[in-house]
Amino acid sequence: MQIAMIEDRMMRVEDVRPEYLDRGTFFGDGVYEVLRSYNGTIFAFEEHLERLANSLAAIEMTGVDVNHIRSRVLRAFEQAGIANAKIYFHITRGSGPRDHLPGKDLQPNFFLTVTELEEDTRLKKEGVSVSTYPDTRWKRCDIKSLNLLANVLAKRDAERKGCWEAIFVNDEGFITEGSSSAFFGIVGDKLRTAALTANILPSITRKYVIKAAKNIGLKVEEESLTPVQARTAAELFLGVTTRDIIPVVKFDGQVIGDGRPGRYTQMLIEEFRKFTG
Ligand code: PDD
Repeated sequence: MQIAMIEDRMMRVEDVRPEYLDRGTFFGDGVYEVLRSYNGTIFAFEEHLERLANSLAAIEMTGVDVNHIRSRVLRAFEQAGIANAKIYFHITRGSGPRDHLPGKDLQPNFFLTVTELEEDTRLKKEGVSVSTYPDTRWKRCDIKSLNLLANVLAKRDAERKGCWEAIFVNDEGFITEGSSSAFFGIVGDKLRTAALTANILPSITRKYVIKAAKNIGLKVEEESLTPVQARTAAELFLGVTTRDIIPVVKFDGQVIGDGRPGRYTQMLIEEFRKFTG
């Protein structure tokens, strides 16, 4: 008899529920999205679906109808009735015996949650501390894949240092992004952020931050900062769907500016509100 064991329970291999045989668990073989709503409207819904389609194509996952995903998300969001919601979902290549090579007849697995977004106004008012961490991730960080072990280890390191976010620094000595956020600096009269390459996720928030920056007359330079440049930047901030813009007031222990959210950062927060209604 071929045996499987789940915690202390033994069973026949053929009796294992498919949830335990998910390729997402075995290999991180899947992609995900995180969206949010503001006052009952999902923000940048189409952009998230477009990024999803790109991620699916990049991992060669066919057979997922993005229109179907759109209607599932809407159905769950409407059912939840949460005005300010975080919507998480992932799609894995399916369930089957553990084999690197996926079986031919796999059906994708879909999982979604809609939860209340707790707004922490202190984060925006006071800003957060961040610490650097080597960017040990793979070379396709533009794919929103379920492989997030390096991100988890980076975040744990930041927490140990009393920081809210870990900032990845690559082998060339440049900042790529946060462990779960995009990274920005204000240097002179310019907004600086890493260019869109395979080294970073094409953050939706980043796109709107750039739009907001242009609206308020800031020049935009898509060029990575080094940690030395970040330490001496006039302002720093993070961008992420769940919290849009979060000021950074300390970088590897160095106080940024006067230790409070910067003037441009606050202007960008205001300008961003115009997009979210
Ligand atoms: N993370 N970079 C990384 C590595 C991220 O994981 C995220 C988002 C971002 C910001 O992307 P966006 O603006 O599209 O949210 C940048 C999500 C929220 C997460 O993993 O929970």
